[in-house]
Amino acid sequence: MTTSSSIILNAKELYKSFGGLKAVNNAHIQVKKGSITGLIGPNGAGKTTLFNLLSSFIRPDQGEVIFDGEPIHQLSPHQIALQGCVRTFQVARVLSRLTVLENMLLATQKQTGEDLIKVWLQQAQIKKEEQENREKALSILESVGLIDKCYDYGGALSGGQRKLLEMARTLMTRPKLILLDEPAAGVNPTLIGQICEHITNWNRQGISFLIIEHNMDVIMSLCDHIWVLAEGTNLADGTPQEIQHNAIVLEAYLGD
Ligand SMILES: Nc1ncnc2c1ncn2[C@@H]1O[C@H](COP(=O)(O)OP(=O)(O)O)[C@@H](O)[C@H]1O
Ligand SMILES: [Mg+2]
Repeated sequence: MTTSSSIILNAKELYKSFGGLKAVNNAHIQVKKGSITGLIGPNGAGKTTLFNLLSSFIRPDQGEVIFDGEPIHQLSPHQIALQGCVRTFQVARVLSRLTVLENMLLATQKQTGEDLIKVWLQQAQIKKEEQENREKALSILESVGLIDKCYDYGGALSGGQRKLLEMARTLMTRPKLILLDEPAAGVNPTLIGQICEHITNWNRQGISFLIIEHNMDVIMSLCDHIWVLAEGTNLADGTPQEIQHNAIVLEAYLGD
């Protein structure tokens, strides 16, 4: 049985319109703690809009989002990240004119250095935090194979490496749940394989995932459970096996 404490993310009756277009039209989704959950659907189904609602990049017209037992739909993306829910973007948001290491350090949250009084009082503490963040960033870059690039500019990375860097950056904030918007899109097959391995490893360390992806091999091999969205609303959900054999889902894709 699914108890509420085994659910890390629970979104109910979400609505979002852009002008007359109902991009998300009464959608719901649940992510079990410790799972790798998939979100699929034809182009324009509202998947990215749903992610934007789940991570508060936009506010719902109606509905609620519960993360780890707390409502989060009134919070800012930064506050949600502090609670342990972080995301990546369909087009990776990597700053081209910062180095790879600097891009990683951008994610570090609420440093003592942000508070001016503490800046005067706690120089040593700030130095220590900066050093710890730097070591953590280097260790994560090492684990994803980007350590050789740490002083290269973000702009010098390939599309796939940017996706990897954006994913690596989410780990700087000790996430409980990572939302990935098309992690394999535009990525070469070798790097896709590596990205899948990293996701599996991070999941084994206790991080839950919700992944939007068009690459069905990636979705079917990674996910425990899959939600299908079409025209802003739920079409089906189930195990990879169930979804692969669901006639309604197949029809929605063939009509794409
Ligand atoms: N900011 C926006 N303003 C207007 N329309 C939008 C906006 N964001 C998304 N849409 C529209 O909402 C629908 C769903 O888009 P999206 O969530 O990006 O779908 P998906 O990620 O499933 O391809 C599309 O018709 C898209 O054009
Ligand atoms: Mg999208």
